[in-house]
Amino acid sequence: MNKKTIIGIIIAVIIVIAAIVGYMMLGNNEETSTNRQGTVNNSNTQTENTTTVENQNKTENTNTSSNGNNILIAYFSETGNTEKFANIIQGQIGGDLFKIEPVNPYPQGEELFDYTKEEQDNNVLPEIKETVDISKYDTVFIGYPIWWYEVPQIIKTFLNQYDLSGKTIIPFNTHEGSGDGGTYEYIEEQEPNATILEGLPIRGGNMESDQTSIISNWLNELGF
Ligand SMILES: Cc1cc2nc3c(=O)[nH]c(=O)nc-3n(C[C@H](O)[C@H](O)[C@H](O)COP(=O)(O)O)c2cc1C
Repeated sequence: MNKKTIIGIIIAVIIVIAAIVGYMMLGNNEETSTNRQGTVNNSNTQTENTTTVENQNKTENTNTSSNGNNILIAYFSETGNTEKFANIIQGQIGGDLFKIEPVNPYPQGEELFDYTKEEQDNNVLPEIKETVDISKYDTVFIGYPIWWYEVPQIIKTFLNQYDLSGKTIIPFNTHEGSGDGGTYEYIEEQEPNATILEGLPIRGGNMESDQTSIISNWLNELGF
């Protein structure tokens, strides 16, 4: 072998080694990038998972702290004020809404006054349109407007129809000057085996402006 041939072989060997090293480095890089991607993906997945779990926990916690699953917000509302009140309660603590409606709708306008006065004077208990499975709930909010200084007759139907023994009742109402009109005491008398928490009366006219903070303070005081 002459000198040229030996140099040629050495160059060929160097080229082959360089090619192998180059190939290996490329392979490693690809692997690394795959790994990184994997890691990034994994960490993304983990982050997503963590967030989901946190969110789930938050939802669970909210439900647990407010007992949202066990809360019924039953209300009667003829002109919408008490309904707004009920919706705000639900927005704050969750729970199921149950609208108490008469099978036969009340007359509108001036006629409503004579009709309801007579209904009260004759102690008529109007039938409620829908029913609710009360056994699902531990806490029952009961909302209504003051009618003729009392609870509307349909609220009396509700109290007669459902066994609220052992449950926690929270009354709330709207009015135009009577406050709660002694109706919270009336509910207490009607439901001696329930725990009645402090209710909140709000003037009907005030429901035109946002009453969320007043309602939310009251709910906080009650421990929701
Ligand atoms: C037939 C009738 C009787 C009412 N009687 C009283 C009353 O004795 N004291 C009072 O403060 N407000 C009384 N109001 C006013 C309502 O309590 C008030 O407008 C309430 O916000 C209406 O609620 P709603 O929109 O949920 O039906 C009476 C309203 C009606 C229609």
